[in-house]
Amino acid sequence: MNIFIFSSFLLLLLVNQNGYQIDAKEYCNFFKGSWVFDETYPLYNSSQCPFIEHVFNCQRNGRPDHNYLKYRWQPQGCHLKSFCGYGFLNKFRNKSIMFVGDSLTRDQYQSFLCMIYTSVPGNRYTQKREGDISTVTFLDYGLEVKLDRNLYLVDMVREDIGTVLKLDSVANKASKWLQNDVLIFNTFAWWGRKGNRKPWDFVRFRNNTMEDMDRTVAFKLGLYTWIWWVEHFIDPAKTRVFFQTVSPAHYNGREWDDPNSKNCGGETEPVLGSEYPGSLPPALGVQKRIIGTIKTKVKLLDITHLSQFRKDAHPTVYGEFGKSGMDCLHWCVAGVTDTWNEILYNLLL
Ligand SMILES: *[C@@H]1O[C@H](CO)[C@@H](O)[C@H](O)[C@H]1NC(C)=O
Ligand SMILES: *[C@@H]1O[C@H](CO)[C@@H](O)[C@H](O)[C@H]1NC(C)=O
Ligand SMILES: *[C@@H]1O[C@H](CO)[C@@H](O)[C@H](O)[C@H]1NC(C)=O
Repeated sequence: MNIFIFSSFLLLLLVNQNGYQIDAKEYCNFFKGSWVFDETYPLYNSSQCPFIEHVFNCQRNGRPDHNYLKYRWQPQGCHLKSFCGYGFLNKFRNKSIMFVGDSLTRDQYQSFLCMIYTSVPGNRYTQKREGDISTVTFLDYGLEVKLDRNLYLVDMVREDIGTVLKLDSVANKASKWLQNDVLIFNTFAWWGRKGNRKPWDFVRFRNNTMEDMDRTVAFKLGLYTWIWWVEHFIDPAKTRVFFQTVSPAHYNGREWDDPNSKNCGGETEPVLGSEYPGSLPPALGVQKRIIGTIKTKVKLLDITHLSQFRKDAHPTVYGEFGKSGMDCLHWCVAGVTDTWNEILYNLLL
């Protein structure tokens, strides 16, 4: 990466970052609304979807209740068009869609595969994995749906000193990203990890290699680097780019006015109505401000607020670690990530 260009760009963004607003779609905000009970949901039967891994497969892991599957997101003042997988497959014939991010992206990716796969009887597919990239190809339509497992979007490289998180570089994967018609990115959950829960030994910005640094600053620098890449390499006529915002966790009952709840365990209903008692995570503000500076090239998939209501939709003890874990971070598939994809679908129509 050309450091000089990057620095000037960074400066420009720092100056401009408060001058822009995010809009979802001109006439309607898909991201504000409420959840309504809908007997026709879920969109598919999770036991008929071959793509759901253990951590998200709540029904197979024995989750006894079903109501959490039966909520539909109703935006204020407009409707989401119902998902039609057959129409989508035809419209996206020979195209390729890539999801890039951490386990929450995997969650959304598997939901997306289930929605597509179950929409057409006998939908033939092949599946392969090369390094961090998985690809499912729907053979009768030539549609490729890919996943790039990528925690920070910026590069993480092995060097003699150890693993280095390079805040000013996205060179490693970017050529793989560019080959797609639709890209959906996410990064957040790993930026705050400390000690041996983080996968790197050093963090580097330009010529400074450090053992650690202020993580909010690191997060911002990483996002700026990523949008520098988008700004310089994405042709919006060829590639649609989305950024999925912070996915909320539910480890504090005070957020939903239930101070006695330590976490989402045992929750079977969402918070109803159009206001969530808890506040929005500060990192969302950072994402909106920074990514809002390039809104002509990136649409925010601003799922934070709508997902906050869904304290009922996490795997709890029906996730990766079973009874010895309490997963209030990921989402059961089927479930909330289907709604993220319904909104993505509406934005792509
Ligand atoms: C889902 O599919 C499984 C296996 O085909 C079936 O046993 C089950 O009854 C289905 N569940 C619903 C709710 O339709
Ligand atoms: C998709 O690719 C196949 C095989 O290359 C080709 O025959 C077909 O015409 C393409 N379809 C569209 C809609 O481009
Ligand atoms: C960074 O390091 C490279 C190589 O070690 C050097 O050529 C360059 O001048 C340094 N840049 C700055 C801004 O210090």
